[in-house]
Amino acid sequence: MAWLEGSALGHAMRESGVWTYGVVNLIHILGVASLFGAVLVIDLRLLGSWRKVPLHAITQPTVPIATIGFMIAASSGICLLATKATEYVGNPFLYIKFPAIGLGIVNVAILNLLPGWKERGIRDASPHERSQLRIAGGISLFCWLTAITAGRMIGYW
Ligand code: HEM
Repeated sequence: MAWLEGSALGHAMRESGVWTYGVVNLIHILGVASLFGAVLVIDLRLLGSWRKVPLHAITQPTVPIATIGFMIAASSGICLLATKATEYVGNPFLYIKFPAIGLGIVNVAILNLLPGWKERGIRDASPHERSQLRIAGGISLFCWLTAITAGRMIGYW
């Protein structure tokens, strides 16, 4: 944390004007909103909503939005962290948020290995595959809601 705070990024965040932190925070929220907005639709579909709409039709627009939203949230988040990294040491919400993000990413990696997900463009999932997708959707919702809640709480500790 001390290294991050003393890095060129940390200096740039603190010394490039009074609006920098606020604007980067806004970018972070826009990234989080895009990520979670898209993920919510995907997860609700995996959990069984809108069964008549093919999974592929739902994931085609939402997966790129979630991916770009995550990249925006992660890059702006590192800038926010670098601003005053040492102040976050001991903040329990940080230790909840980052493992939740890590688990969310592991869950995406596992989802991408599931045949019901990989072959969604060419066929419908079998009942067994549907229950695997449902579990992945439930874990995903839990991870990203935890990350958002802990992220919001960091500032109140
Ligand atoms: C590597 C990735 C990330 C880093 C390093 C990071 C870091 C941060 C930092 C330092 C803050 C400011 C805390 C404060 O002092 O108030 C913050 C706020 C926040 N983060 Fe992240 N974040 C990351 C990704 C995410 C993701 C993926 C989500 C959502 C799923 C998220 C959700 C939030 C929320 C909701 C806030 C509160 C913003 C506000 O209330 O103004 N973050 N993040």
